[in-house]
Amino acid sequence: MSEVNNQLDTLLHEQRSFPPSEAFAKQANFNDPGVYERALKDPDGYWAEQAENITWFKPYDKVLEWNPPHAKWFVGGKLNAAYNAVDRHRQGPRKNKAAIIWEGEPGDDKVYTYEMLGREVDKAAHMLKNLGVKKGDRVTVYLPMIPELPITLLACAKIGAIHSVVFGGFSAKSLQDRILDGDSDVLITADGGWRRGGIVPLKANADEAVEGTKVRKVVVVQRIGEKSNATMVEGRDVYWHEEMAKAPTTPCPAEEMDAEDILYLLYTSGTTGKPKGIVHTTGGYLVGVNTSMRSVFDLKEEDIFFCTADIGWVTGHTYIVYGPLTAGATVVMYEGAPDFPERDRFWAIVEKYSATILYTAPTSIRTFMKWGPQYAEKHNLDSLRLLGTVGEPINPEAWMWYHEHIGKGRCPIVDTWWQTETGCAMIAPLPGITTTKPGSATRPVPGIDADIVDEQGNSVEPGHGGYLVVKKPWPSMLRTVWGDDDRFKRTYFGQFEGIYLPGDGAHKDEDSYFWILGRIDDVINVSGHRIGTMEVESAIVDHKSVAEAAVIGRSHEVKGQAITAFVTVKEGIETSPELVAQIKQHVVEKIGAMARPEEIIFTAELPKTRSAKIMRRLLRDIAEGRVLGDTTTLADPSVVESLKNQYAHTE
Ligand code: WTA
Repeated sequence: MSEVNNQLDTLLHEQRSFPPSEAFAKQANFNDPGVYERALKDPDGYWAEQAENITWFKPYDKVLEWNPPHAKWFVGGKLNAAYNAVDRHRQGPRKNKAAIIWEGEPGDDKVYTYEMLGREVDKAAHMLKNLGVKKGDRVTVYLPMIPELPITLLACAKIGAIHSVVFGGFSAKSLQDRILDGDSDVLITADGGWRRGGIVPLKANADEAVEGTKVRKVVVVQRIGEKSNATMVEGRDVYWHEEMAKAPTTPCPAEEMDAEDILYLLYTSGTTGKPKGIVHTTGGYLVGVNTSMRSVFDLKEEDIFFCTADIGWVTGHTYIVYGPLTAGATVVMYEGAPDFPERDRFWAIVEKYSATILYTAPTSIRTFMKWGPQYAEKHNLDSLRLLGTVGEPINPEAWMWYHEHIGKGRCPIVDTWWQTETGCAMIAPLPGITTTKPGSATRPVPGIDADIVDEQGNSVEPGHGGYLVVKKPWPSMLRTVWGDDDRFKRTYFGQFEGIYLPGDGAHKDEDSYFWILGRIDDVINVSGHRIGTMEVESAIVDHKSVAEAAVIGRSHEVKGQAITAFVTVKEGIETSPELVAQIKQHVVEKIGAMARPEEIIFTAELPKTRSAKIMRRLLRDIAEGRVLGDTTTLADPSVVESLKNQYAHTE
């Protein structure tokens, strides 16, 4: 945890604290501090209470069945996620309420009321059925941030198909890996997406990706139109608008799903080269995400919720689609980049739609800090009443900037710690109850029994650090890793029996507040995106000139972490700036742009222990310019000297 110790110094000197204002506390959904104690004493009772906010076709018989590490929640209950997110709101006063306000990057916009959204979802559900998609089938989704993306997810949910979304920034190869692992035979994509005025070639990637897979149908949304170079493959590819036009306009019945039926797969990086298909089921996930909308985000009927994440990541699944919609909220969804056409785009959107809650990532906040407050100042942000962050630790400076320049000192900030695996926010303030401290995600939300423990699994005393763990199951937890239950057991429950290990280090302060310090495994968090070092290493080694590679995350002012790759080339290969560019491009092609190494350092040898293990800690120390610790286990100490010189040279 060497990296972790680095950040500790700054964090531990953080003294500022912000209690909720009386006015905010008074109106908050959750304002009785007794809720924590109640939920801790009787978690099943607490979750049963929360489950009343979900519509069940058939009531469940039992809240929880726990055979560690396998949990079943709301056993015997029947429900449908799309019914909960859309249809039930069509029947009451929310019928004509805006469900999704969508803004395209070029400036086009669209509003879907719950009724309109419901009709589109029904049509899309019929379309999927027409294409032969059945309950339990996996549908891979590779779309830009356009309305067809949430519509597709909800249509899958409506008929009981399992969606597997692949972020549009992933390469053809990554898409292919996920199609193969999920064994899916239908792909929904687009002719392209807009990004900073340029076109993301989704269809070209999709064409490459489906080669050699079982994909028999590719549905193509026309987002770009004439400017796109996308071509259609006869017999395999169909246009979304044409298929939608053929679909019946009658309601599509919601499939009665078991609480434990799978709702979706979402792939995330781990310590090996192969991404894990995280499995989320229906009942528990919906109860979890719906609860956090009301508790952590204090959602009210009038709120306009703007989450800046991409639906390609879990944050978008939970806080653009299932959370806000099951809660009957209005959600703002934006297609493009924060600096297109100008650096004020987020603030322009907040003003245009009077967003009341803004949820974004620390890396974005640090970017805004760098650009300066003048962009936010151009806009009226008075509608905002609550701010949130997610994805990586937020440094106190960024927290304070967000507080002052966006929240104008008025809006509580909820720093939410969670993961793809946890489904929704786990450690976060309740804005009407919790006194916040800049840089701390504060404490576990009601119903979540999280702690910080030492190597032996004992709870650490205040003032100490260790492993973050979750001691009891929770409704929206992952159920397994798709096709690899052993990996699920090993990765998450292998360290402490029956206790979930997220893979983050954390510190407990004197008030027992949690300070999340970052990953303790071989996962790098670049701008809030999880990337496995092994994935990047295999992509680099795949380059024809490369013999060996070791990848580490070094701290980076804006991105949180940046990728540094130490590379040895094959015999007879000359290193050159061109080769650096080639290797970086190779990683982009293999994984996606977010995995592009910030820097490549060529070295004659990698520092290894006598048992041939690459010493990543040492490489991190070198990349971050730290005094080196113990190097006595090195097989060849001279490697480090030459590396250090070389690193100084490249900087
Ligand atoms: C990190 C994103 C500190 C953490 C929802 C976790 C955070 C990983 C925070 C999950 C936070 C997320 N403070 N670290 N508020 N939120 N992380 O699966 O390392 O993309 O394990 O889920 O991001 O990333 P994932």
